[in-house]
Amino acid sequence: MDICIYGSKKNWDISLTIPGDKSIGHRSLIIGCIPKGKYKIENFSFSKDCLTTLEIIKKLGVIVIEKIVDNNRVLYVDSPGYTNFNKDIGTVNCNNSGTTIRLISGLLCGANIKAILVGDDSLQNRPMKRIIEPLTLMNGHIESKNGKLPLLINKNDGLKGIEYNMTVPSAQVKSSILIAGFLASEKTIVTEFHKTRNHTEKLFKYLNANININNNKISIENSNIESKDIFVPGDPSSAAFLIGATILSEKSKMKLNNVLLNDGRLKYVDILKRMGANISINKTGFLNEELIGDIYVESSNLNGVTVKSDEIPNIIDEIPILSVLAAFAKGNTLFENVEELKYKECDRVEAIIENLQNMGIESTIDGKYNLKIKPIDNLIEKNIEIDSYNDHRIALAFLVAAIKNHGKTIIKNYECTDISFPKSLNYFKDVLKIEKM
Ligand code: S3P
Repeated sequence: MDICIYGSKKNWDISLTIPGDKSIGHRSLIIGCIPKGKYKIENFSFSKDCLTTLEIIKKLGVIVIEKIVDNNRVLYVDSPGYTNFNKDIGTVNCNNSGTTIRLISGLLCGANIKAILVGDDSLQNRPMKRIIEPLTLMNGHIESKNGKLPLLINKNDGLKGIEYNMTVPSAQVKSSILIAGFLASEKTIVTEFHKTRNHTEKLFKYLNANININNNKISIENSNIESKDIFVPGDPSSAAFLIGATILSEKSKMKLNNVLLNDGRLKYVDILKRMGANISINKTGFLNEELIGDIYVESSNLNGVTVKSDEIPNIIDEIPILSVLAAFAKGNTLFENVEELKYKECDRVEAIIENLQNMGIESTIDGKYNLKIKPIDNLIEKNIEIDSYNDHRIALAFLVAAIKNHGKTIIKNYECTDISFPKSLNYFKDVLKIEKM
């Protein structure tokens, strides 16, 4: 489905509650189902990526039933425990989801389950050596097509713990090792050189696992854990687009309720504050080790900034929308070393540069993967076609960019946004003038 946007509405003041966080949604199933027992998941993200994880978990023999409670969709999970999972689940499709394939590989190796993992065109091009190497060092047996899909996970003689220094800053890789490490004999110690999102550590801690965190070192070992109910706070990476839309719109205000306020996910808000945005947060709760609260944002004028390379892992999903916001700021913005963006659902460096160019905005990438955005200070008035590259975060970032175009902005294959932000247009209907084509 293509959509057409005719700029934004003005003077709105709205309060929204967005769908649950995708990262915690995956973990609520993949880690939550390890012990034998029953629990419920509230505010689970019904994004395509999380539904992909749900289908695979069911193949393991975990029973998941959806019920409507007080108008909310709640998942009731009944797990036989990892030692009683089905031993061979055949071919399973991880579709577009990097988090699913990387975390589930850790679980399958640790629980000694045979499987063949396949995915869509995008996933087939994404690097898997980053998990194959550590899981193999732990005694896992994974065959691949030169580090790419399909992954053939074979039986092993039992995993052993390892000491592993991360080579790429990736929460998916770290989580895969920690999940396998929890199911292995002996302790596993992972050292990060750049801190990445820590939902895996927090969920294991909540379930009473033997996990310790000391600066950049995380150690985990097998211990008794229990099934516990999980609440999934609103996804800050989806909130990022609504925040961006508010900043670029005129005389408008938004309140976003019950958003995840984990430190590792708030760097976007920090950077926006540095750019001069009128944005604030109000902490309201703490559930399953995660901080929750409301975000308030108003229309703002932004200034360009430099974003250091050690900040990149904590805004990895927000760089497309930050690039769009930087394109309408005062002064250049520099993102240092965004190489990891090349290995996402599409080559996001290419997608950002090409689509900004379609809008008449210049951006460049140098040999050290520093991305520079040169803003324009006028509104755009032309008919523009945006190529989403079938990547949810590119489509959503340029949906927001359309606010600054007084001509028509067409976004191709907008349905790809269901990967992380189901029914996203319902949330933008009071903000943008949108027509489905
Ligand atoms: C995720 C980690 C990030 C992020 C992805 C979700 C996770 O990937 O881009 O959307 O849930 O662990 P990397 O850790 O590979 O950078």
